[in-house]
Amino acid sequence: MAADFSSIPIIDISPLLAKSDDPKMGEDSSVLDVVTQLDKACTEAGFFYVKGHGIPESLLKEVRDVTRQFFELPYEEKAKIKMTPANGFRGYEKIGENVTQGVPDMHEAIDCYREVTKGMYGDLGKVMEGCNQWPENPPKMKVLMEEYIILCKDLARKIMCGIALALGGSPYEFEGHRAGDPFWVMRIIGYPAVSTMNDIGCGAHTDYGLLTLLNQDENINALQVRNLSGEWISAPPIPGTFVCNIGDMLKIYSNGLYESTLHRVINNNTKYRVSVAYFYETNFDTAVEPLDTYKTRTNGHRKFERAVYGEHLVSKVLSNFIHE
Ligand code: OGA
Ligand code: NI
Repeated sequence: MAADFSSIPIIDISPLLAKSDDPKMGEDSSVLDVVTQLDKACTEAGFFYVKGHGIPESLLKEVRDVTRQFFELPYEEKAKIKMTPANGFRGYEKIGENVTQGVPDMHEAIDCYREVTKGMYGDLGKVMEGCNQWPENPPKMKVLMEEYIILCKDLARKIMCGIALALGGSPYEFEGHRAGDPFWVMRIIGYPAVSTMNDIGCGAHTDYGLLTLLNQDENINALQVRNLSGEWISAPPIPGTFVCNIGDMLKIYSNGLYESTLHRVINNNTKYRVSVAYFYETNFDTAVEPLDTYKTRTNGHRKFERAVYGEHLVSKVLSNFIHE
């Protein structure tokens, strides 16, 4: 049984990044030290902060600032990039349009996904076919976010090397057919300050893929993570860090050794809160099943059947929205 947690660890991943192109990184003691910390965090909490990730705090802030500027625009302006099923569920959704377990969430968002061209993943990918919609205002949003997505993808891939080592595999276990051509999702989110405790910014959920990198607003405490005892542990913003958490596909790969932990957002605060969540996923059409290393780490007892990430995503996307 995993140990419980009452706070979320902070991991300096700079030694891992320094060696990420070296196939022998798993023999380096400073890398192994990071790997040990990742393993403990993934086993106990499913959540950790990363620092030493190489993305400047100034860029993280610029991404949040542009997000805030967008959500400050009048509704008519934001609705110009309204999300519809016809564009692969990409674009702006207003407050209450996203639902978690049937309950409308008190947030607005722009949803983006890796572009899916016609026929790219056959019938499986049809729902997701489309291009991202970027607003004309703020003018720099598209370029900034596209640059940011590239950096997040690179960072997530490197953290996954550490996690692969932690699971007892080669550092590049998640390359190739597993996540060598990763799908990704980005949610650019705004949470109005709520007046009652019953207003939930984002209901309790787990994330769907491998690893989430969350860039959350400064000075506002709103993200909560559930521990094994069922207590909600706060994940306050720590300047210059990302909050990382494990998704459902990594839970399967690890045969349940790592948990895709439940979390939620309650902005019980006087200020509007923004966050930008980048989700690093497997290849869209890959069949995910426990890595062979489960045999040593989880007593050879296999807990999960295969799941196809794209099917999991599509079923979530189709049940996540209220359509007019
Ligand atoms: C999510 C999520 C947390 C936040 O989008 O999946 O958990 O702080 N977001 O916005
Ligand atoms: Ni989440």
